[in-house]
Formats: sequence, C-alpha cells, structure tokens
Amino acid sequence: MKLSRKIFLLSAVACGMMVAHGAAHAHAAKGPTDPADERARQVLAHMSLQDKMSLLFSVDGGGFNGSVAPPGGLGSAAYLRAPAGSGLPDLQISDAGLGIRNPAHIRKDGVAVSLPSGLSTASSWDMDMAREAGAMIGREAWQSGFNVLLGGGADLTRDPRGGRNFEYAGEDPLQTGLMVGSTIAGVQSQHVISTLKHYAMNDLETSRMTMSADIDPVAMRESDLLGFEIAMETGHPGSVMCSYNRVNDLYACENPYLLTKTLKQDWHYPGFVMSDWGATHSSARSALAGLDQESAGDHTDARPYFQTLLAADVKAGRVPQSRIDDMAQRIVRSLFAQGLVDHPPVRAPLDVVTDTLVAQRDEEEGAVLLRNEGNVLPLAPTARIAVIGGHADVGVISGGGSSQVDPIGGEVVKGPGKKDWPGDPVYFPSSPLRAMRAEAPAAHITYDPGTNIAAAVRAARAADVAVVYATQFTFEGMDAPNMHLDANADALIAAVAAANPRTVVVMETGDPVLMPWNGSVAGVLEAWFPGSAGGTAIARLLFGKVAPSGHLTMTFPQAESQLAHPDIAGVNANNVFEMQFHTDQELVYDEGSDVGYRWFDRNHLKPLYPFGHGLTYTTFATDGLAAGYHHKQLTVTFNVRNTGTRPGVDVPQVYVGLPDGGARRLAGWQRVKLAPGESRQVSVRVDPRLLAHFDGKHDRWDIPSGRFRVWLGHSAVDDSQQVSVHLSGRTLAP
Ligand code: BGC
Repeated sequence: MKLSRKIFLLSAVACGMMVAHGAAHAHAAKGPTDPADERARQVLAHMSLQDKMSLLFSVDGGGFNGSVAPPGGLGSAAYLRAPAGSGLPDLQISDAGLGIRNPAHIRKDGVAVSLPSGLSTASSWDMDMAREAGAMIGREAWQSGFNVLLGGGADLTRDPRGGRNFEYAGEDPLQTGLMVGSTIAGVQSQHVISTLKHYAMNDLETSRMTMSADIDPVAMRESDLLGFEIAMETGHPGSVMCSYNRVNDLYACENPYLLTKTLKQDWHYPGFVMSDWGATHSSARSALAGLDQESAGDHTDARPYFQTLLAADVKAGRVPQSRIDDMAQRIVRSLFAQGLVDHPPVRAPLDVVTDTLVAQRDEEEGAVLLRNEGNVLPLAPTARIAVIGGHADVGVISGGGSSQVDPIGGEVVKGPGKKDWPGDPVYFPSSPLRAMRAEAPAAHITYDPGTNIAAAVRAARAADVAVVYATQFTFEGMDAPNMHLDANADALIAAVAAANPRTVVVMETGDPVLMPWNGSVAGVLEAWFPGSAGGTAIARLLFGKVAPSGHLTMTFPQAESQLAHPDIAGVNANNVFEMQFHTDQELVYDEGSDVGYRWFDRNHLKPLYPFGHGLTYTTFATDGLAAGYHHKQLTVTFNVRNTGTRPGVDVPQVYVGLPDGGARRLAGWQRVKLAPGESRQVSVRVDPRLLAHFDGKHDRWDIPSGRFRVWLGHSAVDDSQQVSVHLSGRTLAP
C-alpha cells in the first residue's frame, strides 16, 4: 500500500516537472516527453547502483524440470525480485506466445487456454483477430499473476522445415510485422509486457546455440529486420529478446549492430533487451553491445554474468555507470509504460468459456482451404462420412517446446513416454470427431484410427466422403528432417483417395508439407496446430457453419529441391534436441531478402500452393484497380464483389515490383467481409519502405525513380490484374 503510494507521489512530481520545465527527455524515443520515461527517472533517482544492478538479472522462476521456484516466484521461466522499497513490482516472467505455459505449477486447476499456432493466427490476415488473441492470453497471464509474457515471435520462416515456424507468422516482413505487432499490442492491453523475439535471424533450430546466420546487412534490413521493425512500431513491446544464434559471427546478445545501432538508435526503441535462456556469454561485451537484462542467468548461462561480473566491470571502468543507468531506465520505463506498476496482476479464476471461444474464432479464421474440387466442402449434413486417423476421435495435436500449453483436462493421447525433450506430442482434448457429430447429428459418421490401411480403405469405400486427419509434429530445438507428414499418413491418404475420390484431408501441421497425393484428393484444409478449441473450429469449417477465410503466409513447395537451401546441414531423422548445440557452422543466407515467395518469383519456380492462396465457399471478383501517388503516399484502390451465393471474406493482396527489377513484394492487403452480391471499394496505403531499397552506407531507405508495377491478386503468383505508376525517387526521413 505504502509502496504504490510512493510511486503515485513520484509520478505526480514527475508530471509537475514536465509542465514546469517542458523538459525534453534525453532518452531513446523522440518527440515530446514520455511520462513513463519520466516516472522511471524519478524512481531510479532514489536507487543505489546495487539496486539498479539487481534489475539487470532474473533468476530461474522454477519453470524447468527439477527446478524449484524461488521465494516469491510463481514457478515459471524467470523471476526478478524488485529492490526493496522501490515500489516496483517483482517480475513474474512466463512463456509464451500461444498461451500460458505450465499453469499446473501455479494453479491447482492447471488451466490455460491455447491459441492455435502463430502461423494460424497470421493466416487470418486479420489484425483485429490477432489483437484479440493477444489480449486473451495477456488477460490469462495477468489473472495468473504474471506481468511479463515471453510471446511475440517474429522471425521470418526462411525454411519450411523450421522447428519453430509454428510460433512465428510466416515468410513476409510486412505480414509478420503487422500480425505479430497486433498480437503484442493485444497482450499489452492487459498490463502485461509482451516480448518481441527471437531477435534476430533465429530462423532455424539446427545448431541454434552456436551457428552464425550470415547475411548482407542490407538484405537483413529489408527482410527479417524489417519484420521486427514493423512489429515494434505496431505493438510497442516492452521487451525484446535477443536470440541464441550468432549473426554475422557475433552472438545476437552481444551484437552492437542489432541491439544498439539498429534497434535502439535507428528504430528509437525505448524498452529493454533481455537475453534468451542461455544466450548470454559475457558481461562487459554484452552490456556494451546493448543487452539490458540477463534472463534466468543462474540456471541457463555458463556464469551469472550480470549478477556478479558486471559489478566488477563497472568498478574497473570497463562499463560506464551511465550504461547501467540506461539499462535500468529502459527496464523501469517499460514497467510504467505497460501499466505493470499501476495495474498489478490480480489472481482470479479464468473465464475459460470466453477464452476458448477466442481460440476457436482464431482457428476458424486461420485455417486455410487449399483445395475444394467439385465443392466437396462444405459437407452435407446428412452424408455418410468416414473419419480416419490423426487421433481425431480424441483431440488435436500441438507444437512442442517452451510455447506448449498444458491442456485443460490433461493429455488425451498416450504416447510412448519419450523422456527426452520435448517429450511425446501433446493433444488438446478438442475432438474433431465429436464436434463433427455435434455439428451434423443427421450425418452418419464412423471413425477408423488409420493405423491399418486396409481397414481405413474399407471404411472410406462405405462412405460418401472420407475425411482423413493427418499430423506433423514439430517442436522447438530441432528442425523437421524432411517435409513429410508423420507416420504412414502419405500412404494412408493415397490409398483412401484411390478408394473414394471424395476424400478430404485435414492437415494439422507445424509447417508446410509435401503433398504427393494432392491431385487425387478432392479437398484439403490446412488447420495448422489448431489450439484448445481446434476440434470445434474444424467441424464448423467442414460443415460450413463458418466459411474458411485463411490465406497462406508460407509457400508450399512442390519439392525440397525448390528451396533456397535444399539441405539443412547436419539435420537428420535421428537428431535429438542436442542438435541445437551441434557445431559452430555458418549458414550463409545468400538468397538475401528474397525469402519464400520472393525466392520462388526470382527463380521462376512454380509452388504447389503459393503464398497468399486460400479458398472459401463463395467466389469474389475484383476490378477497377488504380494506383495513385499523392503527398508522397502510394495508395492502391479497387473494388471487390461477392459473386457467389454465400457470405464470405476475401483477402485481396497488393504486390509491388520496383523499377530496377527484383522479386515482387507484398505491399498491403484488406480483409473484406461481403454478403452475396455485395461489393465494396477498398484502398490500400503502401508503406514506403516496401517501395525502397535500404542504403547500407547511409542507413536509410531510398525510393528509386521510375515505373513501379502494382499487382492485385489472390496470391503471390496471381498476375491477372496489374497497373503501373511512376514515382520520382526520394530518401525516406529516418
Ligand atoms: C526459448 C524462448 C523461451 C525461453 C524461456 C528458450 O529456450 O528459446 O523462446 O521464451 O526458453 O522458456
């Protein structure tokens, strides 16, 4: 009580000072005085150096196997005790981006709702949905006593075999930045800091602890870093997590180009940088490069660098005290800016019903209908349906690692009991089969586990439609050794499709997969990792209760040979988690900024399903494409009309081509909901950075002069509508 009063008084003093002196703050952000900065400054003015330094080091919060929560800690990824008498809150730091991890450690009822995978949320192309999804997990964090969430993964998915792609948004910087930034904004609307991670180039898991992602800095600014930049501007995350890997030889957490030059100077980031768990390798070097807080350093780093060694560095003059002040200022500023001081968490029972509905809607918007020959979907409510495989009788699969949420009601598929990380795949008890039966009580729906192909074929023959559920388990710490579905799924699907051409495949995958049977099935729904309400969402999509509206944010290749790097050096099916520490290898990203669809475009490769693709149960037409350039703003306008007989959502996309060539770039989109026959005029304002090249010499963006091509389409390969516009070159203001 006394402490919060002290904070209140200090902030009142701070505000008074602002008015009296009209002080311009000297810290990071530009523009008028930032009240959070001022409040932080007031608190820190009364703090000893030792107390300031205690803000720079969190300890294991008791969230690891066999570890014990420290006094005051809730049993999570990390804990930081605030200096006594400071009035600041302790930091209760929890994973992660899809929901609250390990709630069983902290709540007797072990409850947390999981969103579908990040790829699914991104595939909705709906920033409002992403924000609402973020707000849901932010609220659950707050109600569980946490005030820092380690969620906000914005690495680009440069390779469709990435073990953590499911936590991220996809292969495009604009799409990733806007969608992840919106999720971050949602989390932070609940007075919980969200953490933009893993900064940067942590695009693969293989050798993630040691490898150097080598890339031309200009290409990096135009690709991965642009994604982070836009996410930062959109979501204003209180913290940024530097990643395990090295970038151009230097560890990300001691990389001045990433942390100080780019993030703090060029982007004016006012918050703090925390290390990933085990990613700090030095004290002075890291502090001087721009790391502000060492995470769980007692547990995961070789030495507790910022706890003991940093004080000696300051004493010896290797690290100036002004840097310690800056580190503390950035941390405390974020606590004020995100409301952690004014709105401390209040533990309360979660509203599981409401939260599960958010997860359900997120999945309904994010699932992508890839194929629908002869309108096999939506399913007729009276059909005879053979549901086959994927444990669809009991639940839906989820991705493994630190983003894993413990399922409400426990795990429904008993695996072999793998002791090693990440253990057996976890299935959420949201059964698609049960939900399908509830959705269509007049249908005749059988279930076959799919383990015996002959039995599955018999079931498919006896039905009007076969719906095969197929999974691909991916997880943190290891990349997928290939792009195949798990177990016997490819053979099963091929056999079932041969027996019944009206076969629909529902894929629950962490990544794009190869689909050798694509041409012989009638329908494919990519459901990703569908989250806590996955079964219900899938059933509602299959029966047309809701129309699919998701669009791919990753290219589905026809073969691994089409990828920029067909082999991930060293990965094979027998690798275990240790693979992440494997070697000191270098991965040279010589494709530069041409990630995903841009690689395909540059090399004239035809994907199996392109970036941006997604079908629904109605049809749309677009016309009237025009591109205008006024007051230095490129605006693209067009009309969209629902030409079918059902309501639906269209996601028309705008791509641009620069006058001096290069692959096309996504420049914007709109998500348009229309009733049958309804039409709307849409306008898309193009972020000027997408019209520019990054000039690495002067660290600025330059728009070249000349004729820009503008495409309007339903995917990155849709060339049907095109205009061009002349722009005169200019340099963007920094
Ligand atoms: C992961 C982070 C996670 C942290 C804490 C690390 O291994 O890379 O994403 O937030 O652990 O669990």
